[in-house]
Amino acid sequence: MPKYQQIIDEIKEKQNITYEQLKYVLEHENESDTEYLFQTARSVADCTFGKNVYGRALIEITNYCKNDCYYCGIRKSNRCIERYRLSKEDILESCEKGYLEGFRTFVLQGGEDGYFTDEKICDIVRTVREKYSDCAITLSIGEKSKESYQKYFDSGADRFLLRHETANDEHYQKLHPSEQKLSARKECLWNLKNIGYQVGCGFMVGSPYQTVETIYEDLCFMKELEPHMIGIGPFIPQKDTPFAEFDTGTVIMTLKLLAVIRLMHPQVLLPATTALSTLHERGRELGILAGANVVMPNFTPKKEQGKYKLYNNKECMGKDEVEASLERIGYTLVSERGDHPTKKVRENV
Ligand code: 5AD
Repeated sequence: MPKYQQIIDEIKEKQNITYEQLKYVLEHENESDTEYLFQTARSVADCTFGKNVYGRALIEITNYCKNDCYYCGIRKSNRCIERYRLSKEDILESCEKGYLEGFRTFVLQGGEDGYFTDEKICDIVRTVREKYSDCAITLSIGEKSKESYQKYFDSGADRFLLRHETANDEHYQKLHPSEQKLSARKECLWNLKNIGYQVGCGFMVGSPYQTVETIYEDLCFMKELEPHMIGIGPFIPQKDTPFAEFDTGTVIMTLKLLAVIRLMHPQVLLPATTALSTLHERGRELGILAGANVVMPNFTPKKEQGKYKLYNNKECMGKDEVEASLERIGYTLVSERGDHPTKKVRENV
């Protein structure tokens, strides 16, 4: 059997990868070989999830942020964007829309915005929890104390997304101001896990200063953490950030890494991200065919949609388009919570 296919089979079998294997897979450019990688990853995803794709209604609750990440369009120092916050009523309305369209997970995502105190977050989570007892609530609101995470959990939040961005200290410091620390980010992820959340980490593909070595460290960190969800998407420069002039991450590299992650984490919840769809009109389909099994259409109210500008030309697609694109490749958007296979639905919250 050719070397490439042998490597892919070995990653699948061991659910792990060596540095040499990663380098080989990322640098090798033969089309039929990459097809073999994608098909193998897809068959692994099919084993756990069949032809089902889980949908999440993404609601971007605020684009205020106290952090100043060099890559991100909603960073504090960006004076060129119009800021907004959703009211509780707006958020509930977005949930209702998502629910009526069949979504059973709401993702409340936002910058680190002091306006949303623990009290406000808990109140929103409790209200959503009471109203939609058959739905999962995912928060994605950044670094908080363990106590705060515990409060949100006790109010009924099920999952938390917090990308680690890079597992290499030096690289982390090239992407963030010195006040932000990788150790703090990692501690948050461990706290979330210990509290009992389904936890998601992840990173950008092709971020400035990323190397095969740093990606290998990402993969090692993820093996250690064993997250329930992994979010990766290409880096896309945003014109009003310090990284405006850097190159965009590539579609092919993102697809290869989705596939490798699927081989290493057969049961993980893995979205075909918005950033991937922004770079390629069939990005979502390609992501699913490379092993992803989650999509996150945008349910931010129309009046604010488009202001959550993490990067240039961010696409915003609704449910119908997403569903049609999945059907074209033989997959079904299902109306389920879509928990991680090892995590049961929580009772009595
Ligand atoms: N390109 C791609 N992804 C980005 N993110 C932030 N800025 C960019 C960008 N310019 C990602 C980060 C963050 C998530 C919410 O969006 O990984 O964790």
